Amino acid sequence: MDSRLFLSLSLCFLLSSLAHLTHSAVQFPGLQESVLKLMIDVSSAHFDPTRVTQISWHPRAFIYEGFLTDAECDHLINLAKDNLEKSTVADDESGKSVESEVRTSSGMFLGKAQDEVVAGIESRIAAWTFLPEENGEAIQILHYEYGQKYEPHFDYFFDEVNRELGGHRVATVLVYLSHVKRGGETVFPDAEVKDDQPKDDNWSDCAKNGYAVKPKKRDALLFFSLLPNATTDPLNLHGSCPVMEGEKWSATKWIHVRSFETPWKQAIRECTDENENCA
Ligand SMILES: *[C@@H]1O[C@H](CO)[C@@H](O)[C@H](O)[C@H]1NC(C)=O
Ligand SMILES: *[C@@H]1O[C@H](CO)[C@@H](O)[C@H](O)[C@H]1NC(C)=O
Repeated sequence: MDSRLFLSLSLCFLLSSLAHLTHSAVQFPGLQESVLKLMIDVSSAHFDPTRVTQISWHPRAFIYEGFLTDAECDHLINLAKDNLEKSTVADDESGKSVESEVRTSSGMFLGKAQDEVVAGIESRIAAWTFLPEENGEAIQILHYEYGQKYEPHFDYFFDEVNRELGGHRVATVLVYLSHVKRGGETVFPDAEVKDDQPKDDNWSDCAKNGYAVKPKKRDALLFFSLLPNATTDPLNLHGSCPVMEGEKWSATKWIHVRSFETPWKQAIRECTDENENCA
């Protein structure tokens, strides 16, 4: 099925389900409270699937316009700005965090659900991606000053150590917390659609090497590191172009295939047979 058709069908289904819920609330007063709670949750999260655009299928990437409010963006920056450290990358062999010229930003990890705003953003990310909150790492805030960048890389790991908890990273949600006057684009050098994107001189040279997304405060980019058959997607290669003017703030949520809170082996131990036919 054409993917746009599929999307609109899904949307119709979602909207009609919501309409049905509201309708039921009128018919059955007993349900009203829980339905109202749902409506409030939905509206306070400002979750609106019509603001999502698919930008690429290989790799799978989507943009959600205005995913956060201005206040939420500023709040995240404020939580991070006094605690930034030079960013690191994972060593492919040992999995240890090491400093590298490949990645010159600075950043820090927030705590999961560290306050109400962060918790709200995390549940909105789960709602959008259909991936459980427990599979996510804590949000990482990144700051790029003039010339700072992240060379094209994959978000999935090549070492075993970093896959022990949660398994592979399946998807990444990257939210732009500031506008960048020039540069700082997210670039996918191997995206299938890279030659179909016209770029004038407002794009940096780096951005011209692939399909690129301009950092726009409040927008969120979602892309998948794994293909639907759970193998790694080599087209997912992406980088952050050097900032040429202004500064760039972003928030990243990496989401794994399993819980990032409960180790797999422990989860297996805690799992018991409840049906004699189920080994
Ligand atoms: C760059 O953007 C500005 C406004 O955003 C526009 O006026 C200008 O024409 C653009 N430059 C080019 C080369 O298109
Ligand atoms: C997974 O899907 C990709 C792309 O369709 C394909 O190239 C690859 O062979 C598949 N791998 C497995 C193990 O099915």
